[in-house]
Amino acid sequence: MHRLEEMWIAISTGILIIFMVVVGYQTFALGMGPPSNKETIDPQKVDQTEPFDEPGISKIGDNEYEVVMTLQAFGFTPNNIEVPAGAKVNFIMTSKDVTHGFQIAGTNINAMVMPGHIQKISHTFDKPGEYLVLCNEYCGTGHQLMSTTITVK
Ligand code: CUA
Repeated sequence: MHRLEEMWIAISTGILIIFMVVVGYQTFALGMGPPSNKETIDPQKVDQTEPFDEPGISKIGDNEYEVVMTLQAFGFTPNNIEVPAGAKVNFIMTSKDVTHGFQIAGTNINAMVMPGHIQKISHTFDKPGEYLVLCNEYCGTGHQLMSTTITVK
């Protein structure tokens, strides 16, 4: 084999190994692996299953709130959430029909909400304002209308 060829094979193999070590370290040592798909739910019975039988926002701690949310074509329930600035908000979500997205503009929150699975995500809104929430997974003819807002006061 040509020497240059051997060199390039060695370099590309080395890069692959470095990437695998970095990803492995992030996933197993730092626990940065995707946390989804752990809890499941019968998508036909979302309305009868706790806590989704009563979607809404509730105060669960000194400075902590829980938002139980269902996503369905083409909206978010509850709509127009309001939380105080600086509070930790735990979102618990599922879909009643097809795969939807949960993206909060101006934050790094961007989750996929699938029927049959419970998605949990926490965020602290430090800055007051109106945050736009968008569905970023194509879910049907009304997909582009599927949005809501989170008001942080
Ligand atoms: Cu829901 Cu797109």
